[in-house]
Amino acid sequence: MLVLWARLGLVLGSLVSYSWSVQRSWETWRSELNGGDESSQPHIVFILADDFGWFDVGYHSSEIRTPNLDRLSAKGVRLENYYVQPVCTPSRNQLMTGRYQIHTGMQHWIIWPCQPYCVPLDEKLLPQLMKEAGYDTHMVGKWHLGMYKKDCLPTRRGFDTYFGYLTGSEDYFSHERCYHISPLNLTRCALDLRNGEEVATAYKGVYSTELFSQRAISIIQNHNSSKPLFLYLALQSVHEPLQVPKRYLTPYSFIKDPHRRLYAGMVSAMDEAVGNISLALQQTGLWDNTVLVFSTDNGGQTLAGGSNWPLRGRKVSLWEGGVRGVGFVTSLLLEKPGTVNHELIHISDWLPTLVSLAGGKINGTKPLDGFNMWNSISKGLASPRLELLHNIDPLYEDTSPCPGRQHPLTVAKGVREDLWASSSFNVSIHAGIRSSNWKLLTGYPGCDVWFPRPGSNSSEASAFPADPLKPVMLFDVEKDPEEKYEVSDKFPKVVEYLLSRLQKHQKTALPINYPDDDPRCDPGPSGAWGPWA
Ligand SMILES: *[C@@H]1O[C@H](CO)[C@@H](O)[C@H](O)[C@H]1NC(C)=O
Ligand SMILES: *[C@@H]1O[C@H](CO)[C@@H](O)[C@H](O)[C@H]1NC(C)=O
Ligand SMILES: *[C@@H]1O[C@H](CO)[C@@H](O)[C@H](O)[C@H]1NC(C)=O
Ligand SMILES: *[C@@H]1O[C@H](CO)[C@@H](O)[C@H](O)[C@H]1NC(C)=O
Ligand SMILES: *[C@@H]1O[C@H](CO)[C@@H](O)[C@H](O)[C@H]1NC(C)=O
Ligand SMILES: *[C@@H]1O[C@H](CO)[C@@H](O)[C@H](O)[C@H]1NC(C)=O
Repeated sequence: MLVLWARLGLVLGSLVSYSWSVQRSWETWRSELNGGDESSQPHIVFILADDFGWFDVGYHSSEIRTPNLDRLSAKGVRLENYYVQPVCTPSRNQLMTGRYQIHTGMQHWIIWPCQPYCVPLDEKLLPQLMKEAGYDTHMVGKWHLGMYKKDCLPTRRGFDTYFGYLTGSEDYFSHERCYHISPLNLTRCALDLRNGEEVATAYKGVYSTELFSQRAISIIQNHNSSKPLFLYLALQSVHEPLQVPKRYLTPYSFIKDPHRRLYAGMVSAMDEAVGNISLALQQTGLWDNTVLVFSTDNGGQTLAGGSNWPLRGRKVSLWEGGVRGVGFVTSLLLEKPGTVNHELIHISDWLPTLVSLAGGKINGTKPLDGFNMWNSISKGLASPRLELLHNIDPLYEDTSPCPGRQHPLTVAKGVREDLWASSSFNVSIHAGIRSSNWKLLTGYPGCDVWFPRPGSNSSEASAFPADPLKPVMLFDVEKDPEEKYEVSDKFPKVVEYLLSRLQKHQKTALPINYPDDDPRCDPGPSGAWGPWA
């Protein structure tokens, strides 16, 4: 306990100065290493998968085969204590800003196609910083950070080129998105695919996994290697709808659940795409000086074939199944390749990590919540991150069906309300915070089921009884990553401390920005989704 409190004290006192000193020593080390020679700036390829679950990658013993992800990560560093946000827009937002959701007013949910907002325009994004560091910057795939006006588009926010779709999901072949525009009481299906800012109509029928990876490969092939490359590939895979060319299903006839079988095929297509991209990097000679990051954006959606077994919960929840992400880094520049990393790392950490790897400057951003993790990833040194705010969202609701939960939050009899009565944090609010091994949840964290291992029978699933949820729950996720043992009664001081941290964070939160649908979004019967304001 004493050691714990000493560590917690350190968190309070020195988060900011610690991150800066780590960053400075890294910059010094870098400039000693390469004598300030810009040409040694590594190419950076960031591949973001969509809704790819914890149990859906081969190296987590999945029944789905991912030979390329397994091979690339085995040669690199697998991040096994790595966190993302529970849904799409927030993870992408933090990747691009290095800042928590509460600091952009986007702590609630995702951006729907007709909502007139985007990542605040006074936020400086990762590609802008990479450009200032001298990089060519390209983006392919899903944006989902707002597009109601042109200033919100990727090409206006730091990317030299863009090819992809702006909303959160669509048909993999027709590239059409259907959305119910409530103020018009009308369901509109329209194209969502752009080349730069122009609507791209010529790709109907081309499966997006192939379309986007071919586009990424052509960027790699046409890149002049005398300049550093930053390529952000945000794949549509493996978000619903469950669609995949038949040939990817061939190895999966043994999977009985039709959703899981289609999903497995989609994962195989994605794995092949990543393999193709790594091959293109090798064939063009860029590979020797490339850092490739692979990450999911959130946990798997069990309603659409995904699995996070043995973790609890799923996409949209603050349980580990929603936020513990599949991720790895692979590069010849890693000092300890072939290792498994257990340091606490978060998706907001990529911005400072990649910008310093690029030899760039954190210039003109607002105060970052992310840390430079390169020494942790490359050399296995201790993570500078001692705390992680998962989110605070007073408007949270999860209306998707959750087996066995009719009443989201039942306060169990005999719950020690004195544990939080003295706290000024409103424990009805959906929130989650992590500090070293501890994770505290308040309010309703979202669907809390332990979904069974795919293919297993249901008697296995119900082996562990779920207690009624409490407004304040504490887990030791280092010892208990499955969140089976709620221990708030045993560690009242930890509860008190983490509630005070939540209250501190909540004081820095911007008001939630979550506007009503704007009927002017309607692209009409023959138009495409895109800026209307
Ligand atoms: C919306 O449209 C549907 C079908 O066109 C109709 O049944 C319904 O009453 C409408 N709702 C409102 C609120 O106008
Ligand atoms: C990978 O490359 C092969 C060979 O060019 C191609 O047939 C296949 O469609 C590619 N896969 C994807 C997902 O792009
Ligand atoms: C690559 O860029 C360098 C420096 O700008 C230039 O000298 C060279 O001609 C370019 N190579 C190609 C193939 O365009
Ligand atoms: C720093 O950021 C400001 C504002 O974004 C920009 O105008 C300036 O050019 C940047 N400085 C450098 C050295 O990149
Ligand atoms: C506490 O938070 C809940 C959920 O956001 C909200 O409904 C309630 O009004 C809040 N209570 C107080 C006293 O602020
Ligand atoms: C179901 O699971 C139980 C417990 O693991 C096991 O004993 C049983 O054999 C399984 N039944 C089938 C049909 O797989």
